[in-house]
Amino acid sequence: MKIKVNFLPVELSGEVDLAVVVDVLRATSTIVTALHAGASRVMPVETVEEAFATKRREPRVLLAGERGGHMIPRFDLGNSPLDFTEELVRGREIVMTTTNGTPAALRSKGAGKIVAASFLNLARVIEEIGNEPGLVAIQCAGSGGQFSMEDVLLAGAAASVFEDRLLDDASRAAVFLFRSANVPLDRFLVDHCEHAKKLSSIGYFEDVAFCAKINMYDLLPVWRENGFVRG
Ligand code: MLT
Repeated sequence: MKIKVNFLPVELSGEVDLAVVVDVLRATSTIVTALHAGASRVMPVETVEEAFATKRREPRVLLAGERGGHMIPRFDLGNSPLDFTEELVRGREIVMTTTNGTPAALRSKGAGKIVAASFLNLARVIEEIGNEPGLVAIQCAGSGGQFSMEDVLLAGAAASVFEDRLLDDASRAAVFLFRSANVPLDRFLVDHCEHAKKLSSIGYFEDVAFCAKINMYDLLPVWRENGFVRG
């Protein structure tokens, strides 16, 4: 097995065996939470129009996502993991569109297998990477094409348990970063990560605090056909 970390979003070719998609704030944390609350599938789509078109074809789906951090008008849910309660999502398919996280998942479709990673399900992500004999790419979603520290921190947390000979230099850099971050993680995110500062400033500090929790859920979202299901 070999692990590489893509700090910036890249289109994956089929040469990657396992793509680990990371958008800690907040898309992959929300996908993990939605499946834990009983959603049957989370289907990422690129555009708001695509989401509405799916709803016209399949009226029972819930629409979720954000633009500028806020819920999209006429959607059922935003991108706050805390809003994905059992009462709302149990047994439902969710169509999701976000600024960076869902495009990162869609760009990973060339990989042999795709999973979604967050601090909430870190142990399951590490287990999955450990079981992969081939090439693993940890796909950081970033923000607007730029490096996002919270995603690289998660990549470092996942890579830190593997032997150095299995890592590329980007993975090693992520591990150094993760080891130098001080706990508590929610404070670190708000103090040092641009997107956490932005989310806090527009009223979503609770989401940041939630997404910084480690191993809340023993669950791995795995891509099947057109979206993530409980693996
Ligand atoms: C994204 O996909 O860009 C993020 O999940 C944005 C957010 O914090 O909602």
